[in-house]
Amino acid sequence: MGSSSGQGSNYDLSFKILLIGDSGVGKSSLILSFISASPETIAPTIGVDIKIKHLTVGGKRLKLTIWDTAGQERFRTLTSSFYRDAHGIMLVYDVTRRETLTNLSDLWAKEVELYSTTQDCVKMLVGNKLDRDSERAVTKEEAVALAGELGCLFNECSAKTRENVEKCFEQLALKILEVPSLKDKPKAEPDLIVEPKPKPNAPSQGCCC
Ligand code: GTP
Repeated sequence: MGSSSGQGSNYDLSFKILLIGDSGVGKSSLILSFISASPETIAPTIGVDIKIKHLTVGGKRLKLTIWDTAGQERFRTLTSSFYRDAHGIMLVYDVTRRETLTNLSDLWAKEVELYSTTQDCVKMLVGNKLDRDSERAVTKEEAVALAGELGCLFNECSAKTRENVEKCFEQLALKILEVPSLKDKPKAEPDLIVEPKPKPNAPSQGCCC
């Protein structure tokens, strides 16, 4: 389902990546840390925020369209449609808040099962805020075990220090490339996302769908 680029465009394949998880685990921070080195003020996401990042992995030039969903309960009814056609999903928890991991298995993983339309969609469990290791409430071992149960890849990272952040996205993209049904299947419908022209210092556009 990876959409191939047309002649003359600057990427070989386009993948949709979705980030889900409780409010405050650091989904927006993770994405911002991945797409730009400069810090930005983070506000809670309203509905969904979409960012685009180009990177080369496994010899392929990829365009990642990264969907940052709101973790807050009041926006949850909006999110079901966001799962559609996702090639990769990051299930993010905060290593200092145990309930954010519990909610991944009790709540978010169930949503993935219910709403994800892509059969071979690659999932990754991501423990964020690794820089606060002294306040850790979830051991790496138990998170690895849960990742195994849910059929997810696993990583820990820090959006604050940027430790392992690129690795998370690169591993996810590499795994997607290994799945023939995701890499090779032509996209059923045209890209709905129009890449915005970069504006210097413009705030990111949140859209409430
Ligand atoms: P919602 O948009 O409400 O779903 O939240 P979110 O998951 O996108 O979290 P967000 O990125 O807004 O981060 C929440 C808070 O955690 C902010 O104050 C961030 O600065 C902080 N934060 C995010 N990542 C890290 C991290 O790796 N380390 C530390 N120490 N703080 C972080």
